[in-house]
Amino acid sequence: MERMYLLSVIIILLVGYGESMELGFEPSFELRKKADVLVIPCFKKEGSVELAVGYGDYRELVYSLVDSGDFSAKEHEVLIVYDEKRQEKRLMLLGLGQEDKSTLELVRRSYAEAAKFAMGKKWKSLNILLPLHSEYSPDELAYVVAESLLLSNYHFSFSAKAEKQGCLLEKITLIGDVKSQDKLLQEVFAMVKGVNFARDLVNGNADIITPKFLADRALDLGKMDSHLKVKIFDKEEIQKQGMGLFYAVSRGSSEDPYFIVVSYQGASSSKDHTVLIGKGVTYDTGGLSLKPTASMETMKCDMAGAAATLGAMQVISELKMPVNVSCVIAATENSIGSKSYKIGDVYQGYNKTTVEIKNTDAEGRLALADSLAYAVDQLKPTQMIDLATLTGAAEVALGNHRSPLFSNNPTLATELFQAGEEIGEKVWLMPLDQDYRELITAKIADLKNSGSREGSLIFSAMFLKEFVGDIPWAHIDIAGVAFLNKPRYYHMTSATGYGVRLLIQFLKKSYEKSRS
Ligand code: BES
Ligand code: MN
Ligand code: ZN
Repeated sequence: MERMYLLSVIIILLVGYGESMELGFEPSFELRKKADVLVIPCFKKEGSVELAVGYGDYRELVYSLVDSGDFSAKEHEVLIVYDEKRQEKRLMLLGLGQEDKSTLELVRRSYAEAAKFAMGKKWKSLNILLPLHSEYSPDELAYVVAESLLLSNYHFSFSAKAEKQGCLLEKITLIGDVKSQDKLLQEVFAMVKGVNFARDLVNGNADIITPKFLADRALDLGKMDSHLKVKIFDKEEIQKQGMGLFYAVSRGSSEDPYFIVVSYQGASSSKDHTVLIGKGVTYDTGGLSLKPTASMETMKCDMAGAAATLGAMQVISELKMPVNVSCVIAATENSIGSKSYKIGDVYQGYNKTTVEIKNTDAEGRLALADSLAYAVDQLKPTQMIDLATLTGAAEVALGNHRSPLFSNNPTLATELFQAGEEIGEKVWLMPLDQDYRELITAKIADLKNSGSREGSLIFSAMFLKEFVGDIPWAHIDIAGVAFLNKPRYYHMTSATGYGVRLLIQFLKKSYEKSRS
């Protein structure tokens, strides 16, 4: 019987942009269709290069290139060779570095380079040879290659010219032997859609991405899946609920605040309930403690935590994950105006804690404090994870490659750390010793919202800790990683969507663990 031509194709529609891209599999090298380029992965070897695939007659070609000294298969190295005789007249040799040093993240980064190179040349269709690797299964490798190509295939621009020159990939065929193709495609498309949803929200103008806009997106999610329940509190309800810290932050803005709760129940027999809390400051001027111009320039990214938690909710619902998860967002602007909350005044939060305002630019912790306290009081969480662009100090401490992680629970911290290592959204554990408690004490109230420079990163986490009680909790400060000033790897724009993949990987592993 003639071998069936197996091509699973799913169309992805990128949020807001209507771009579409086909991604499919072709198990047979010989039966592959025409494309603009064939991508051939290679490992670097001591003084030589080794093909990372087991088929094709490329050995001669590769050896001659090695002899020429033009290609050594370093990580992300790309070399184009023309060969009129083949159905893809261009061959792209792609370096993956040394096999024993290569990780799934390095595979992602290398294939992202292939995607970017092709986009730069306006090549629209790619035949991609999947690599073989002694440490990872074909399915694992196929997943990260697909993930990297899809994550790279994103753009965001307000320029009509750039829009017209758009050069997104249109068709990718992954060539190799992969078992669970359909499941893999479903997962990777859902994941990338969630990440792009978050990226679009962060890249978008703050004038558009208002608290109301976030509330509307949450309501949209609810309309798409009956397992998702959405609750929105408006300004009056926020005051009635006693969320005085969150409300104080919102006062300077003409945009109304919204308190958003999205709940998903996918494991009704389980008592586990993970609550995700996202910082949703849609623009941070600093308030009366006004930021200087340069610091304000990127402050439309101050809702990246909210975007990541909403993106994660979307993925969870699309994949019908067997978990119970809620997300809580106190969405507001931190603006400046005649009604602004005041430096030196004291405001009272949802759980009656009073806070003396030392700096209105330390607003995120106030909005999060009421979110955490509300979650503890109303949602019966078994664990809570908050993501927040909380402090410039996070970026000072760890730069743009890892986020500071704080937790009152070593198991939760370890699980998040491991999930981050696996998917390339890395964290690093920071201290929360009781010794630091003195930082946040105030003279005229229970707490103050800001102190001196020393330990200011830890200050912010110690402050949040006051509102979580004894629930296992983790705080991830994403200020350095959510919005890059220099896009890199599989991120084509400033907004990375950081947190979506981390949270999904963490949840996936936790229910796999609970089953075994
Ligand atoms: N949204 C900022 C933190 C931030 C800085 C996010 C850079 C992304 C990039 C936060 O609200 C803030 O202003 N934090 C202050 C706290 C200080 C006043 C205690 C900061 O980091 O300077
Ligand atoms: Mn601020
Ligand atoms: Zn802020």
